[in-house]
Amino acid sequence: MKNCHWEPSEQQDQITSLDKLRQKCPVAQNEMLGHAVLMHGDVRSVIEDYETFSNKAGSHLSVPNGMDPPEHGIFREVIESYFKADRLPNFESTCRQIAQNIVSKMTPNTALDVVSKIAKPFALHIQCAFLGWPESLTSALGEWLEANQQAIVNNDRAMLKQKADEFEALIRQQLDVRRQSGSTKGDNTYRLMHETVTVNDKTRYLHEEEIVSILRNWTAGEVGTIAAAISSIFNFFAENPLVAEQIRNGDLSTDDAIDEILRLDPPLISNRRRATKDTEISGYPVKKGEKVTVLWASANRDESVFDKADVFNPEQNKAHNLLYGRGIHVCPGAPLARMELRIFTEELLKHIGEFEVTGESKRANYQFWRVQ
Ligand code: HEM
Repeated sequence: MKNCHWEPSEQQDQITSLDKLRQKCPVAQNEMLGHAVLMHGDVRSVIEDYETFSNKAGSHLSVPNGMDPPEHGIFREVIESYFKADRLPNFESTCRQIAQNIVSKMTPNTALDVVSKIAKPFALHIQCAFLGWPESLTSALGEWLEANQQAIVNNDRAMLKQKADEFEALIRQQLDVRRQSGSTKGDNTYRLMHETVTVNDKTRYLHEEEIVSILRNWTAGEVGTIAAAISSIFNFFAENPLVAEQIRNGDLSTDDAIDEILRLDPPLISNRRRATKDTEISGYPVKKGEKVTVLWASANRDESVFDKADVFNPEQNKAHNLLYGRGIHVCPGAPLARMELRIFTEELLKHIGEFEVTGESKRANYQFWRVQ
């Protein structure tokens, strides 16, 4: 079967363009993405067959995102404990405080840029609080993310390398502070520095480059998805005031509603894989070593799986929603992300009655193509 060629459009109309592309082409070709997989069933086949479609898609260390079994499982076990349900209640009140501070800056009947004033600051403050980093770091991190995002969009390898070095320096500073001072004892960054792994029967502490990689993945990827999710939630409430009302009245589960809003308007567009042997996806040939990109933003709107895919229907669509992925790489941070978004939404709906989009509705767009 012959693949069709495709150039991704700007972030703003990316989802619409994927909707159109999916109708004529289940697997599209693109230089940057390799084989871009658009259908729900194909995306599932790829992510579930981790032997044929490796996560070692890039050249630099990415813990655990860019690893395969058995190495992946060793590191995955370490990070999973940070997001377990029993750990999250400790973070809930901090999370609510941050949401309240940010939402209280919104003046009713006054227009404001949700992306720069609400979505990004919330995501950055939450991430710093989660890792025990000082609040003063939020602006440096925000600037770093913007520049890193631009480098990803431009596929600018030299700039990406420079940004990776800058991020490393930033994190090493945080590690040094923790080596010198007892005041940070017990925060998540400190904990990470004291984690051990058993590799080839030898138990050792995480190497510094592994800690840096874990923290880079949590920051670069996750601040982007949370910020994008917040802007999607605003846009959705502006267009669907009745749903906001149902959540406010307790007639609809906030978690289910948010998962469905983000199925319709996904905060994370894609993830990468690399074929480990000659294979095919729905009859489309894929050669050993070639790049494969799973497009969550398309699969989650696939009409062959979701009846009236464009319509908000949490009950109907919950079971097939791939928002947090599936299989061995399924998002370990999902319980944290859900808690953050639920608390934010609760505080938002307490503070604001109705929403209106003035001007062009925007999405926070840190998260374009995640690099590994
Ligand atoms: C709305 C917010 C979020 C969405 C939509 C999301 C979505 C995803 C998806 C789809 C994957 C699977 C990637 C793949 O199969 O290649 C993933 C993996 C991952 N996510 Fe999230 N995520 C979110 C928030 C978070 C947060 C807050 C954290 C942690 C701070 C986090 C940490 C991770 C990590 C470490 C992985 C890699 C797991 C592995 O390779 O085993 N995510 N995420």
